Amino acid sequence: MTQLPKKLLKVLANRKKEDIFRSLNSLDRLIDFLSNDYLGFATDETLFSKTFQLLLTEGVASNGSGGSRLLSGNHKLYKKLEPLLVDFYKSDAALVFNSGYDANMGLFSSVPQRGDLIFYDEYVHASIREGIRMSNAKAYSFLHNDLSSLKEKVDLNTARNEHEDSAVYVVTESVFSMDGDTPDLKVFAKFTKSNGYRLIVDEAHAVGVLGSNGEGLIPDLKLEKDVFARTVTFGKAFGCHGAAILGSEELRDYLINFAKPFIYTTALTPHTLATIITAHNYMGELGKEPKALLSENIVYFKEQLRSHKIERFFIPSDTAIQGCIISGSKKAKLVSKKLIDKGFNIKAILSPTVPEGQERLRICLHSFNSKEEIGLLVKLLASFI
Ligand SMILES: Cc1ncc(COP(=O)(O)O)c(C=O)c1O
Repeated sequence: MTQLPKKLLKVLANRKKEDIFRSLNSLDRLIDFLSNDYLGFATDETLFSKTFQLLLTEGVASNGSGGSRLLSGNHKLYKKLEPLLVDFYKSDAALVFNSGYDANMGLFSSVPQRGDLIFYDEYVHASIREGIRMSNAKAYSFLHNDLSSLKEKVDLNTARNEHEDSAVYVVTESVFSMDGDTPDLKVFAKFTKSNGYRLIVDEAHAVGVLGSNGEGLIPDLKLEKDVFARTVTFGKAFGCHGAAILGSEELRDYLINFAKPFIYTTALTPHTLATIITAHNYMGELGKEPKALLSENIVYFKEQLRSHKIERFFIPSDTAIQGCIISGSKKAKLVSKKLIDKGFNIKAILSPTVPEGQERLRICLHSFNSKEEIGLLVKLLASFI
């Protein structure tokens, strides 16, 4: 086999030296405090058999889509799914992508143009950053969840901007993937609306768990008309795979024509589409119960943190994502290893995924975690940190 170039071998060796080397492993049998499968949909047998039923009812017996959506891959289940998403998320239009990563890459690389300005929260997901990097617009980060920092950046850079007819995009998430916290979206939306800017919100970690039916925070706050685009993903609370960009019909048309991660890739399999459809219907059938169980567990987890006096190590969050800061990759990895040895599936998140010094355990709570598991986890954590 031909070797990796020397300079890349050196980079890899450095990762090992700095103790931030990534490798793949499988810890399936441990107690899950790691996955984004907040409601247990990924392993739900009823959902699995309902999906199979839908494929039978639809007479679908194909394994793959056979091509990109613009060629042979625009399977009939897309025509069922996209209108369902429009209803579920109270949007004008929806365009399904193969993943959240693709959706963000497609949106941000194609929509903002040369002369446009993008202002994004410093902690937005890697897929948004990469999309922005591929666009020809100028981009500036603002301090996390900080409207005054956003305003400062906007004032400074719009004054400097020489282009006429610039569009201004403001980008944030409704639940941040590593911190679990939420911006004051009403205030952000008011600011963007009153200035004629376009607000884009990634709802990857909100859909399924926030809103009365799991429709996310934007519809829950009745802000859907004030937002230019939303990213929703189906690999987290919906337990399957894929994503959609929600927005106007014109935005949908534009993405179909210009978003390369949409155009040049094989479409999702019919089975995946059937799972996404079934998962959305199933969410409605189950009603509030799984979300209520998750909320109870979040409250219980936070009570346990208080009673073991380790609340101060945690990033304030009322969501399923709870970040315990353990500065330094060695230390964070050591604590996660100790928890793994005790049967808990928890991983340390290291730089560069999070800023240096903010290494952490990202604890994901689920509707199916028991009180005993949560209690023991916090007790052990308190002794290890
Ligand atoms: C905020 C956010 N957006 C987008 C994505 C990408 O979604 P997907 O896993 O469907 O590619 C993630 C995944 O971790 C995420 O956390």
